[in-house]
Amino acid sequence: MLTKSLTLCCLLALVLPTLAEVGWWRTAQFYQIYPRSFKDSDGDGVGDLNGITQQLAYLKEIGTTATWLSPIFTSPMADFGYDVADFYDIDPLFGNMEDFEKLLERAKQLDIKIILDFVPNHSSDECDWFIRSAAGEEEYKDFYVWHTGKVVNGIRQPPTNWISVFRGSQWTWHEGRQAYYLHQFLAKQPDLNYRNPKVVEAMKDVLRFWLRKGVYGFRIDAVPHVFEVAPDSNGDWPDEPRNEYVSDPEDYSYLDHIYTTNQPETIDLVYQFRQVIEEIDQELGGDDRVLLTEAYAPLDVLMQYYGNSTHNGSQIPFNFELLSNINFNSDAYHYSELLHNWLDNMPADKVANWVLGNHDQSRIGTRLGADRIDATNMLLLTLPGISVNYQGEEIGMEDVWISWEDTVDPQACQSNQQEFERLTRDPVRTPFQWSDEEFAGFTNGSSTWLPVSDKYKLVNVKRERGIALSHLNIYKQLRALRDEPTLKQGDVTVNAIGPNVLAFKRSLAGHKSYITVININDDVESVNLDSVFTELSSQLSYVVVNDKSARRKNDVTYANSVLLMPKEAIVLSTI
Ligand code: BGC
Ligand code: MG
Repeated sequence: MLTKSLTLCCLLALVLPTLAEVGWWRTAQFYQIYPRSFKDSDGDGVGDLNGITQQLAYLKEIGTTATWLSPIFTSPMADFGYDVADFYDIDPLFGNMEDFEKLLERAKQLDIKIILDFVPNHSSDECDWFIRSAAGEEEYKDFYVWHTGKVVNGIRQPPTNWISVFRGSQWTWHEGRQAYYLHQFLAKQPDLNYRNPKVVEAMKDVLRFWLRKGVYGFRIDAVPHVFEVAPDSNGDWPDEPRNEYVSDPEDYSYLDHIYTTNQPETIDLVYQFRQVIEEIDQELGGDDRVLLTEAYAPLDVLMQYYGNSTHNGSQIPFNFELLSNINFNSDAYHYSELLHNWLDNMPADKVANWVLGNHDQSRIGTRLGADRIDATNMLLLTLPGISVNYQGEEIGMEDVWISWEDTVDPQACQSNQQEFERLTRDPVRTPFQWSDEEFAGFTNGSSTWLPVSDKYKLVNVKRERGIALSHLNIYKQLRALRDEPTLKQGDVTVNAIGPNVLAFKRSLAGHKSYITVININDDVESVNLDSVFTELSSQLSYVVVNDKSARRKNDVTYANSVLLMPKEAIVLSTI
């Protein structure tokens, strides 16, 4: 009998892979590290791999499942690593391959998965592929997008009017090759030519290389830009139409990018990258490997990234609905609409993800106000699916103002003193605030590549560990709550209760329900949760409170009259 049931168990174990293997990412907490600014181990004022390895325990402390690192590859750093010169090696600024292997080993001990940034759209102009392409070497000559240009009234001009994301023409003349090359970003970031199958293969090999090293997947950069429209039979492309509301002809938004973004071929490429991931899943076994895709694109396009009935796609097409649309004045109806946008349009059996910050976007505390930080972390961590946190948001770091003279971000430097503040991404990339020591404990050196926030004595990990209702401790409590079955698997119902209060209920048969209630504004509010949710117990218990609350954890309230202080954000549960 015993042997029989043992055999049955073994059989079941064989046919039923554990949740960790096939679906660890479905309820995961992803954490984005911007390596230049996380932790400096060697005193040069720039963060590095050994710094990350030293601090992985912190990621564990806050319950991180997987961390994605902005690019760590060999690079002249024209776009701080998003200009890769060698897709197969580590930049010496960050360390070397041995350091990376140590990082992987430590991550494995702590059960944290490492995800790398994959930049398919372009390489650096210092990449060997580009140098060979410019020299016209047979194997590489079509690795990039080249064109001899047009001659108008005897004057040579770029082949199209296309404008770079970082201002100015997308075309730069190359003396050696006697042709223009395409770059959707900086001139130092030439676009790879995805209409050349050799390029597609070469980039798939890059994925294979790092997966075999032990990474669990990739965040894919700037996906909508990978393809341009196919050239006509003469090898020419059409101009893009104007956006009449923009007058600056150098500005990216001057044109409507119908020929240089979101081409249909892009979707198929994402499916092909997923195939590579699955091929390595087969080859190496173990836990699932994942794709996270960065695309600022229309919802219907993003939903196709997930896959269709015949193809798997990106498990995590970043959901930028909140990040791109919420502002200081947004009301609860607006929040609710944006949450619904994703939840209601997602294909059946796919998983939602919530992204509130990254290294390109102003921080929550600055965009929405420091007194809304806990509320947004509550959204991030109690909505169903995957949370994606940008380093420092969990302690409530805010943007750091940096003068034009000290600005280093190319997106801003390509503009001018009048425009740079709108464009610069430096303020969100400043050193991580570990403690109240000099340079916030980020470095032992004597300077940092970007200034440290002058708020670091108040906003830092060490101090916040000791304050019961600090941003960090609230984040940790929310994270712990995510282990509850209801938060892992439960349904969600989202409602605005008037313009000021957003509420959503998570429920799972046979388990407690949890209700997140956020007072977005500064009026005291009294809400009747029975008016919008069914099957609540008449009394509810406080599970998480923020420092605006007059109530404490474990207090109880009637569901039909929950009193909310200005900017109060809470999680309640049924009793
Ligand atoms: C990255 C940026 C980068 C750009 C070009 C993006 O979307 O997130 O930081 O500048 O791609 O690679
Ligand atoms: Mg360093």
